[in-house]
Amino acid sequence: MTETGGGAEASGATAVSLENVRKTYQLGEPVHALDGVSLEVPRGSYTAIMGPSGSGKSTLMNLVGCLDTPTEGAVVVDGADVATLSDRERTTLRGTTVGFVFQTFNLMPRLNAVENVALPQLFQGVGRDERRERARELLERVGLGDRIDHVPNELSGGQRQRVALARALVNDPALVLADEPSGNLDTETEAEVLDLFGEFHDAGTTLVVVTHERHVAERAERIVHLLDGKIERIEELGSAGDPGEPAEPADGGREDR
Ligand SMILES: Nc1ncnc2c1ncn2[C@@H]1O[C@H](COP(=O)(O)OP(=O)(O)OP(=O)(O)O)[C@@H](O)[C@H]1O
Ligand SMILES: [Mg+2]
Repeated sequence: MTETGGGAEASGATAVSLENVRKTYQLGEPVHALDGVSLEVPRGSYTAIMGPSGSGKSTLMNLVGCLDTPTEGAVVVDGADVATLSDRERTTLRGTTVGFVFQTFNLMPRLNAVENVALPQLFQGVGRDERRERARELLERVGLGDRIDHVPNELSGGQRQRVALARALVNDPALVLADEPSGNLDTETEAEVLDLFGEFHDAGTTLVVVTHERHVAERAERIVHLLDGKIERIEELGSAGDPGEPAEPADGGREDR
C-alpha cells in the first residue's frame, strides 16, 4: 500500500483510494468516527483492518462500500469519486463491483437462504434458474448445501453469516468488503471461509476484511491498524493465503474490543 497522491491516473491499478477522509457524526457532541484517513488499496490486494471497538472500522467499510459519503475528503472506488455519483450510479457500482458482508448480515427475513444468495444477481440480468444454481453452488462452498430452504430465523448466527458471505461472493465482485466475516464461526468453518477468501484472492479479487482476530488478519498481505479514527500503522505481511503458524486457541489472538 502506497501513500495517496497519484491522482486520477493511478485509478487503473488502484481499487480503492481514500484521501484525507473524515466522517463526523453530530449527536450533541460531534463524534469523529474517521479523522483524516488516507489509504490506497491496490487492485487484487488482500487487506485486513484491525482496531478496538469504535475505532472506525465499520465506518470505513460503509464509505468504501458506497453506503455512505464522507464529511470531508474523497473516497474513490474503481476510479469514481463516490460523492460525485448519483444515487443510481452508486447503486449500480454497489450492485456490480462490490460484494459486502455486513457485520449484522442484513439478510432479507422472508427469503430463504438460496433466495437471499441469488438476489444480487438480479442486477446482472441473470436468468432465474441460473441464479438459483449459482446461489446453491456458493451455499455448498460455505457448507450450507443442506440449508438452502431455511429462512434466516431458522438458521444459527454462524449460518446466517455464511449466507451473507455467499451473497457477497455470488456475483464474483471485483471488490469484496467483509466486516467481521468469521466472528460467529467455529474454527473449522472459519478455516473454510478463509480458504474461500484465499481462492478469490488468487483469482484476482480485491479483499478488505475487518477482524478482531490476529490469525484471520494474517491471511492478508497487510494489516491496517485503526485507532480513534486514524491509521495508527500499516503492517506489511508476507504472501497472502499462507496460514503460517497453526491457529491459536480460541481468543488467543483477540484484540481488545
Ligand atoms: N450513525 C452513527 N451516529 C453516530 N455515531 C456513530 C454512528 N455510527 C458510528 N458511530 C460512532 O462512530 C465511532 C466508530 O464506529 P464504528 O462502527 O466505525 O466502529 P468499529 O471500529 O466498527 O467498532 P466495532 O469493532 O465495535 O464494530 C463509534 O464511536 C460509534 O459510536
Ligand atoms: Mg464495526
